[in-house]
Amino acid sequence: MRAEKKGPPESRALYLNAEEVRRCLPMADAISAMKRAFAQLARGEAALPPRMVIPLPEDRGDYLLMPALLDNGAILGAKQLTLLPGNPKAGRPLIHALMTLFDGAAGEPLAIMDGGALTAVRTGAVSGAATDFLARPDAATAAILGAGRQGRTQLEAICCVRPIKRAFVFDVVPEAAQAFAAEMSRKLGIEAQAVKSAGEAVSRADIVCAATTSAAPVFSDADVRPGTHLNAVGVYHPDRHETPPETVARAKVVVDQLEAARQEAGDLVIPIKQGLFAWNRVHAELGELAVGRKSGRETAEEITFFKSVGLAIQDVAAAARALENARKHRLGAELG
Ligand SMILES: NC(=O)c1ccc[n+]([C@@H]2O[C@H](COP(=O)([O-])OP(=O)(O)OC[C@H]3O[C@@H](n4cnc5c(N)ncnc54)[C@H](O)[C@@H]3O)[C@@H](O)[C@H]2O)c1
Repeated sequence: MRAEKKGPPESRALYLNAEEVRRCLPMADAISAMKRAFAQLARGEAALPPRMVIPLPEDRGDYLLMPALLDNGAILGAKQLTLLPGNPKAGRPLIHALMTLFDGAAGEPLAIMDGGALTAVRTGAVSGAATDFLARPDAATAAILGAGRQGRTQLEAICCVRPIKRAFVFDVVPEAAQAFAAEMSRKLGIEAQAVKSAGEAVSRADIVCAATTSAAPVFSDADVRPGTHLNAVGVYHPDRHETPPETVARAKVVVDQLEAARQEAGDLVIPIKQGLFAWNRVHAELGELAVGRKSGRETAEEITFFKSVGLAIQDVAAAARALENARKHRLGAELG
């Protein structure tokens, strides 16, 4: 509960913990915030430098710093996070993060919030936005590859934009897939089922979401049916990929941002190195779909592929929406 204090509520910075971030950021809200942020990026009303990725000693993982401006600089912020691949084995989340948000006009800090919860929601939400532009309207089945934190919000987001009835989930840890299926069936009111192979999931799905920590493709191109839409969120290193290059080669490819994809998206960099794809074959950035400058899906048969490396504008947009809802519902703790 917030301590009562005098003065207008907008003037006091808030801290939102993970539970409060989730409550203040329903998935449908987050998807609309992503569409708006990417439209701003396409119109030049948002700005972000390439994120800073600092490798930690002894291959422990990475420390990332991600600043951005939205609304022509009226709102700004930065997320900092650690991503430690050894953490899940020790029972800790892969990603820990903190988000800070500032008022760009007055320069005042507005909020600090848990960045792990924020990351999961905004990463699902951007796939939700892409799915809305690119998946067949009647898509009713989903494959989730990687039954972790991001996999959960991937499924939640695509259920927001398409009439998903069944989800097939595969993880190299079978117990993780089973727990995911039980939890998400209950939460989303769909039939989610753990399956024994990625191929089984992909070959039965209208929409595929890859959200793994794998460095090599997690399914076979032969399993991808015509008309499938794929979201790949798991890779941000140019020398790793989770999507088969042959699938990329035959898909209509959309990226979050070309510049970031060139630096980080092994899912595209590797097929390009192999001569199977080229940067000038990228159909669009997501923002170009959001402002209607480029088309989304055009035929029922085409395979569409959205590659997300994750952009700082997503964090600022999601944090601003969470703060707006926190003020409305009087959630969070005042700082200072
Ligand atoms: N694009 C973005 O904006 C964005 C944001 C956050 C995280 N990520 C990335 O998403 C990935 C998943 O993150 P998370 O927080 O869900 O991690 P997590 O540890 O919670 O889940 C990852 C899951 O993938 C599974 N997995 C690993 N290899 C697999 C394979 N070959 N087939 C099937 N499952 C496999 C693991 O067993 C684990 O259950 C990470 O690589 C992370 O870097 C991307």
